[in-house]
Amino acid sequence: MNFDTHHCSALITGASSGLGAEFARQLAPGATALFLTGRRMDALEKVKAECLAINRTLQIHLCTGDIATDEGRELLLESVRQAGFQPNLLINNAGMGDYGTVASADAAKLRTQMDLNMTALVLLTHACLPLLRRPGGIINISSLASTLPMPAMAVYAASKSFVTSFSEALAVELAPEGIAVTCVCPGPTPTSFSQTARRPDGEDTDRDGQDFLRILPSQVVAEGLVALRAGQACVYPGLGVKIAARLFHHLPRFLLRPLLRRRFAKGTV
Ligand SMILES: NC(=O)c1ccc[n+]([C@@H]2O[C@H](COP(=O)([O-])OP(=O)(O)OC[C@H]3O[C@@H](n4cnc5c(N)ncnc54)[C@H](OP(=O)(O)O)[C@@H]3O)[C@@H](O)[C@H]2O)c1
Repeated sequence: MNFDTHHCSALITGASSGLGAEFARQLAPGATALFLTGRRMDALEKVKAECLAINRTLQIHLCTGDIATDEGRELLLESVRQAGFQPNLLINNAGMGDYGTVASADAAKLRTQMDLNMTALVLLTHACLPLLRRPGGIINISSLASTLPMPAMAVYAASKSFVTSFSEALAVELAPEGIAVTCVCPGPTPTSFSQTARRPDGEDTDRDGQDFLRILPSQVVAEGLVALRAGQACVYPGLGVKIAARLFHHLPRFLLRPLLRRRFAKGTV
């Protein structure tokens, strides 16, 4: 099941920065319409201006709201209906992390992280399916972190594991309906992600060995769109991330566990 992004109408969550904004910019030249969401209107306006500079005939709708909440998601869906927007592509991109242990975490941030990374992604997909024109496409943004348990990022890695599993199953369910589903699993990518994930006490993640994995948002998005067009169910953008994902998938747990323990004992994961 593949999908042609030319003349697409895409609903993109988390479009005000990072990967979401980059999806908007890369779809802009050939898309018919974009519906961009996030909580910050000023940032969405900036992305809109960038997209219009690329394609001045593009129709762009903006909607702000916190999609980690039931009210925020309902507001978004109502705004989509009111605008008469009929997407054929849904990009579930909004997500967040939280660096540090579960014991020292702020419970409210843990909840928001789970609500945004999992609940919002599932319920927006569910609500958008009747609106999605066929042939259609869905891109879900997961992470390389979905391939292994990550002490000091435990909830984030588990939530992305959920996203990958959900997406793979959804791809099978929706193929007969003419909807392609691609799960994009980026490695460390320079966006605002780290700033949001960092705690007020400064607890951070270990960046040791990440240089090998790090690629720009533009490459993550380009590879994600190529994968959707090719009907690929899951993609790990960048050579380093592809190699790491293969390694993590095949590493026996009895070898992985001491490695995780050692890394965690260093005080940094
Ligand atoms: N960067 C990485 O290293 C990396 C690696 C693997 C996977 N990812 C995944 O990539 C996706 C995009 O993240 P990014 O790296 O581009 O980070 P980012 O620059 O922080 O972007 C996150 C986006 O999500 C939106 N968002 C956050 N909380 C929201 C909420 N409660 N309601 C509505 N929108 C919300 C933000 O918009 P507002 O602030 O305007 O609300 C922003 O547009 C996430 O799913 C992330 O887990 C990132």
